[in-house]
Order: sequence, then structure tokens, then C-alpha cells
Amino acid sequence: MSDVMKHSEGGVTTLTLNRVASKNALTAEMYAAMADALSEAAQDPAQRVVVLQGHEAVFTAGNDISDFLNNPPAGAEAPVHRFLHAIAAFPKPLMAAVCGPAVGVGTTLLLHCDLVVAGDNAMFALPFVNLGLCPEAASSLLLPQLMGHKRAAQALLLGDPFSAETALEVGLVNAVVPPTEANAHAHAMATRLAAKPLDALMQSKRLMKAPQQAQTLQVMTDEGEVFKRLLLAPAAKEAFSAFLDKRKPDFSQL
Ligand code: COA
Repeated sequence: MSDVMKHSEGGVTTLTLNRVASKNALTAEMYAAMADALSEAAQDPAQRVVVLQGHEAVFTAGNDISDFLNNPPAGAEAPVHRFLHAIAAFPKPLMAAVCGPAVGVGTTLLLHCDLVVAGDNAMFALPFVNLGLCPEAASSLLLPQLMGHKRAAQALLLGDPFSAETALEVGLVNAVVPPTEANAHAHAMATRLAAKPLDALMQSKRLMKAPQQAQTLQVMTDEGEVFKRLLLAPAAKEAFSAFLDKRKPDFSQL
């Protein structure tokens, strides 16, 4: 079975992350599969809404750390960048259902979703600095806008995780439900959206995003440049090796 499963029915396309043994950590192949599916859904009039979902126990542990170390993304055409651009520019409603850990891109991708349902076990974490990295997916712009600079600094600089309750309070998610109900709850919302007139939906989304769309894409490009440099720097290499060796990183000389 594929690490990203795709199912389209009734105008709703569901992409399910399916690499649970590795906590749905995202590989280049998974980003490519999602980017391709989003591009196809954007063009196919029969696909009106896309829902990203994981497992009841885990949404995603973020980028695969071995991939960061051995197969770092290079250039705008790297699958991760194609995926990030696809979610930022997706012209139809984009939704997510999130249970358990949503680490790194697992949280930042939600900033580009129109509606998000969380399980009450959801845990959002942005450990970029802990890994010697910087924010991506325009989260350096969108997260402070959403929750204010102080709370964003706690999440992005200290790397403190936050709960589903906090995510609801700051408006990162629309609803918090038991994990067993999250995917079904999101699907019910998606079905309501899919029944609406597509042009009106798409134009309304475009108008909501238009005032800062160019800035969002520019910030994403700027972050990408810094991220690329930091990925190859000693602090990140130490952090990735420490994770894979199951030890604490030592940044004392870095
Ligand atoms: N990349 C590669 N492998 C990962 C991974 C990642 N991002 N996250 C988890 N895994 C692997 C673990 O190495 C482990 O593999 P093993 O069974 O071969 O030892 C397996 O998935 C289970 O992970 P584990 O850490 O034991 O699960 P947990 O339930 O204790 O913790 C997380 C879950 C998500 C909190 C924890 O795995 C984690 O913090 N992962 C790293 C998150 C991260 O830093 N992502 C990058 C963001 S930019």
C-alpha cells in the first residue's frame, strides 16, 4: 500500500498519510504524491474539496529526519517545495483532520487549510530551532498573525508544543472532537462544501487570500533560502544524528 492513499468520492478527495510505523514522517516521495494529487484536484472539476488526514493516533511527525540528513531538498522543484507551493496556491477548499502529533510541517501546513478538525489528542509542535532550522511554509508570517508574536515565539523559538484546546482558542482549528470522530467530522464538513457552487466557493477563497497571497509566497521563498543553508550546517546535522541515535543533541560548541 502507498504511503499516501488517495480516495475521491462525491467531489471530496481524501489524502491519507499511511506510514504509521514511522509516525507518518514525510518523505520526498510522499510530498511528491501529495503535490501531484493537489495539482490534479485543482484542475479536475469533479474534485471540489481536498482533505488531508492521518491516523487516529498520529497526523505526522513532520519531515523524515533521515531524508533531511541524506536527501536534503534542493531547489524550488524539490518535492517539499512543490507541496508547499501547492497548498499555498490551492484554489479550492483545503481541509485537514488532525489527531495525535502534528510536528513541523504537520502544523505549518494547517495555516494553509481553510477548515481543520482536531482530535482532542492532537499535539502541535514546531521544533525547527531545536533542530537547527528555521520556520517554513510561511509560518514566520502566518503564525504570529494568527496567535500574536509572543505565543508564536513560544512555539517557534522555544519549540513548546501546544494542545488542541489552544489550537481552537487561537483559531488554528475549527473544532475539537474525540479522535475516533475527527476524520468523519471533517468529511461531513467537506461534503457540505462539495455541494456548494464551485465557482462561488473558489472566488470566495481567492478573495479571502488575495490581499496577502504574494507576500505569503515571497516569505515562503525567503524561508526556503535560509532553511536550505541551515539544513547543511553543523547544528542541524548534530540534531538529526542525535534523533536517529536516540540521544540528546549537544549544541555546546555550535
Ligand atoms: N523522521 C524519521 N523517523 C521518525 C520521525 C521523523 N520525523 N518521527 C518518528 N520517527 C520514527 C522513529 O525514529 C521511530 O522509529 P523506530 O521505531 O525505528 O525507532 C518511530 O518513528 C516511532 O517514533 P517514536 O519517537 O518512538 O514515537 P513516539 O510516539 O515516542 O513519539 C513523536 C512521536 C512524533 C513525538 C516523535 O517521534 C518525534 O518527536 N519525532 C520527530 C519529530 C521531528 O522533529 N520532526 C521534524 C520536524 S521539522
